[in-house]
Order: sequence, then structure tokens, then C-alpha cells
Amino acid sequence: MTTGEEQKKLTTLSIRERKNAGKKIAALTAYDFTTATLLDESGIDVILVGDSLSNVFQGNETTLPVSVDEMIYHTRAVQKGIRRALLITDMPFLSYQVTVEDAVRNCGRVMKETRADGIKIEGGLPIIDVVKRVTDIGIPVMGHLGLTPQSINVFGTYKVRGVQPEEQQKIIDDATRLEDAGAFSIVLEKIPADLAQKVTEKVSVPTIGIGAGPHCDGQILVINDLLGLNEHFRPRFVRRYAELGESIRTHVRQYIDDVRNIRFPDKDESY
Ligand code: KIV
Repeated sequence: MTTGEEQKKLTTLSIRERKNAGKKIAALTAYDFTTATLLDESGIDVILVGDSLSNVFQGNETTLPVSVDEMIYHTRAVQKGIRRALLITDMPFLSYQVTVEDAVRNCGRVMKETRADGIKIEGGLPIIDVVKRVTDIGIPVMGHLGLTPQSINVFGTYKVRGVQPEEQQKIIDDATRLEDAGAFSIVLEKIPADLAQKVTEKVSVPTIGIGAGPHCDGQILVINDLLGLNEHFRPRFVRRYAELGESIRTHVRQYIDDVRNIRFPDKDESY
């Protein structure tokens, strides 16, 4: 990054404007201060504190167990590492689905206590009232359609969504509903590339894909997957840019060996 424009803090408006400018949006998840600092310094556009932290940080099988308090804890840490990227945090399961009033209170609390730039919520028609109300009171909303992991117990599988024509139409309709309700962008997860292209052409807000092909306005990955830290998870949409899991094991073994053989610490590392 060099120019003043590139250093400027990104806003939901600048992210929306990317669509018309034809400039792709690069997004990643982060769950801690150190990682957020590194991603921000690298020039990432959007950092999402995803409820995927339930899986990759807390070791749960699904995203369902994570709480509002835990999302707030991680988002506060991530926020301190960000100067430029747009910071979005996931609203966890049951924090926005019960009543609109409940959703407003929880989303408002997350915004007040974390300094996030916006929140992300999953689903279409059943949460449109929430998107509208939350947006109306000044909280930017990122939608999330396709494979919505908080509904995994209804889906019963993490397979690609939007294969059948009825579900394809539902995703297109939900995207339009989200846009009309005020969502500033929409994550499309694990749907066919041509469906993601249709949605992207239909709505005027940017789509951010994960396993949704190259036609989305941006892409997002879970940082642990990109870095090869989550080694057992290998869906085809993840490109591993590093093998940090293997690298960590190699270096920790080296450290153990050095300690056991009294090579660490040496004279220069002692007082
Ligand atoms: O929780 C998460 O990390 C997400 C992304 C995969 C989009 O929702």
C-alpha cells in the first residue's frame, strides 16, 4: 500500500462503491489482535470476526454454541489491530432470530461494545424485518445466503446449496429482499458459480463469495484454512497459501530438541 487513498479507513460506503468501480473486495476472518494487525498491514479490505471461531478457535463441531459475549470479546481484540480494513462481526445463533426487539438489543450491544463497523446475519425471508429495523437505526448489515452454517441441523449436510431450481430462485429472491431491506453486502456461501453470477448481476450491493466461484464482487476465506492451520478441513473452495500447521510442528519440535539438549538458551539469550 502506498497512496493516501489506499491507507484510508474503509467504510461500508467505500465497500459498496467497489462494485460499480469493478474493484474486487478481498476479505478474511480474524479472531485475535495479532492476526488482525497482520491482515490489516497486508492491505485486506474486510475483516470478519466470523462465528467460525466456534470451530477453529473453540473446537466446536458447529457454529451454534458461540455466545454474544464471546463474539464481543474476540471483536474487541481484533478491532485494536485494525487501522484500515472494514470490521464486521457475526451475530451468533439465537441472538437475532427470536424477536426484532431482541435482535436490535443484541446488534446494538455488539456495535456499542466492540467498535465494529457492522454486523453479519444469516438467512433471507425470516430475518428481513430484522435487517430492515437494524439498518434503520444505523447498524450496517452484511447478509449471508446459500450454505448458512447456523442452519446446519436443518440442512443435515455441508454440501453445496442452490442446486435445485426452487432453491436457486429462493436465493435470488432472498438476495433482492436483503438489498431492499438495506443490507450493504451479501456473503454467498457454497453455491454454484453460475447462480452466484446471477445474484451478483441482480443486486446492486456487493456479493462476497466463499465457495461461490469467481463472479462475486469479492471473496472471503477463513484465515486458518488459507494458512493451512486447519489441516483436516479440505473443501475444494479453500486455496491453501501456506502450510503453517506443518511449519509450527517443525519449529516446536526444534525448540523441544534445543531445550532437551541445552542448546536453548545460549549465552546471547541469557543475562
Ligand atoms: O463465520 C465465518 O467465518 C463466515 C465466513 C465463512 C463467511 O461466516
